[in-house]
Amino acid sequence: MPNTLTPEWLKTCVYNPGLFDGKVVFVTGGAGTICRVQTEALILLGANAAVIGRRPEVTQKAAEEMQQLRPGAKVIGIGNCDVREVKSLVAAAEKAVQELGRIDYVIAGAAGNFLADFNHLSANAFKSVISIDLLGSYNTVKACFPELRKNKGKVLFVSATLHYRGVSLQSHVSAAKAGIDALSQALAVELGPLGIAVNCLAPGPIDGTEGLGRLLPSDARKRSLQLVPVQRFGTTEDIANGTVFLFSDAASYISGTTLVIDGAAWHTSART
Ligand code: HXC
Repeated sequence: MPNTLTPEWLKTCVYNPGLFDGKVVFVTGGAGTICRVQTEALILLGANAAVIGRRPEVTQKAAEEMQQLRPGAKVIGIGNCDVREVKSLVAAAEKAVQELGRIDYVIAGAAGNFLADFNHLSANAFKSVISIDLLGSYNTVKACFPELRKNKGKVLFVSATLHYRGVSLQSHVSAAKAGIDALSQALAVELGPLGIAVNCLAPGPIDGTEGLGRLLPSDARKRSLQLVPVQRFGTTEDIANGTVFLFSDAASYISGTTLVIDGAAWHTSART
């Protein structure tokens, strides 16, 4: 079971219930921990959601669980959708509009990753990750663009911090995430006049996520923690709070930026 939000979160969060009443979020990667928690926060605060994934059972199960978070919430799962295929996303966006009426917010978070040294990383493996992370992010916005334009919507890409400095075994993902940052900036400039805001969220070491579990063996946790200036790993609530801020009207003049949620960890990462 992923490290997900519960309605208890509403008691401690600083945002008002109903903040996103009537809004619909379209999310790729929503069955994974980071994007799931982002989506859960929006649902708890009033939004409905379309959760897009490759694996139909996993996607459907995640959607059903998320729908339980708030009475009256409508959360649909759309499986068999590969973000590398824009047609597949266009069909998913059409279904989301059919069932939920509109799309206001997009979270483009589908990602593929594995640790691989350059010598053993094939060109096809590199291309696979670029295609899922970078091309997939582009395709997601492309498919939702008519709705984003109509509703003056907001896009949030899920990036990372590992490309701010070099990180071994992650050349494929680093290149993809750097591309996502550049895509975000370019789209913020180009789509700003249409009323569409585009930002990135860059999670650092967030406890309880698949990413941290795979990147950080348990025997390296203590040392790694010492290198986080705020002296703790991030929580999924930290991700939820940053996400809500960027989609809220409190961020209405914020576009083309990256919100790094990492306790200042990347500034020390040269020592890791
Ligand atoms: C080296 C690998 C590999 C590995 C796959 N490949 N896994 N190479 N080390 N561990 C190579 C394959 O050999 C193949 O190259 C090419 O990648 C494509 O593999 P396929 O399995 O055919 O592709 P596909 O089914 O599309 O799978 C995509 C994937 C896969 C990215 C490779 O891992 C995936 O779908 N992951 C989705 C879930 C995921 O990874 N989530 C992580 C999110 S967390 P050849 O040359 O043989 O054809 C996160 C945070 C950081 O991103 C996590 C840190 C690790």
